[in-house]
Amino acid sequence: MNCPALPSTFFAQTLVAWQRQHGRHELPWQGTREPYRIWVSEIMLQQTQVGTVIPFYQRFMTAFPEVIDLARADLETVLGHWSGLGYYARGRHLHRAAQKIVQQGFFPRSSEELQKLPGVGRSTAAAIAVFAYGQRAAILDGNVKRVLGRFFALDTPEDAGLWALAESLLPDRELETYTQGLMDMGSLLCTRTRPRCAVCPLQTQCQAYLRGETQRYPTARRKTVRSERHHRLLLLCTPDGRWLMEKRPIPGVWGGLW
Ligand code: ADE
Ligand code: SF4
Repeated sequence: MNCPALPSTFFAQTLVAWQRQHGRHELPWQGTREPYRIWVSEIMLQQTQVGTVIPFYQRFMTAFPEVIDLARADLETVLGHWSGLGYYARGRHLHRAAQKIVQQGFFPRSSEELQKLPGVGRSTAAAIAVFAYGQRAAILDGNVKRVLGRFFALDTPEDAGLWALAESLLPDRELETYTQGLMDMGSLLCTRTRPRCAVCPLQTQCQAYLRGETQRYPTARRKTVRSERHHRLLLLCTPDGRWLMEKRPIPGVWGGLW
């Protein structure tokens, strides 16, 4: 008699097979094991979509081909290349981290060490370690949380439980393909508002789909209550068309920008 695969085995095997056939393969940060190139891509991808990142990434890499180039550049130049990507703290952290790496003389060699870099959280560290070193580590960003939440129909998932689940799902082999598959599944099929379940290979064992409740997951987050703010804007211009520019303080919104 054929036993159905355990959900965890099914999940990983199905993702790996799907990624090989339908996932992304030609991204400019793929096909390399160079940690610097992978690190920069993962930082850019934290809050920005793949399609937007690609041209920025290519220009950034031309400007700063090695970590030493980034470390030696001044912050203004780095932020100039970040301009348009948003969330400028990422650019500042990247610059500081490059200086730290150059100072210590080598790139952090594990997910645990990577997490000590400014701007690198647990999931980003795991992604870099998987793609650069083939380390066995689990990613868990917003997209992954949504996929797991739906597949297992998790009603009130806590982070600790999700991390344990993500780690328990890691396959023994082809970790890179699996990890990329999880990312691509979250952004190509299992999207927030309209998951494409009809063409999803996880469909046959996806608990949210089987219950007809994909919209219920992820469970709605409580809305953050925003306080009312009042702003005044003062523009100063001389008769010959020169503008007064002021630099914003470094910690804070748009810090370091003019
Ligand atoms: N999101 C975060 N990292 C990614 C990657 N390497 N490829 C596609 N999407 C991502
Ligand atoms: Fe997501 Fe639908 Fe696939 Fe389930 S079947 S993993 S909800 S796309």
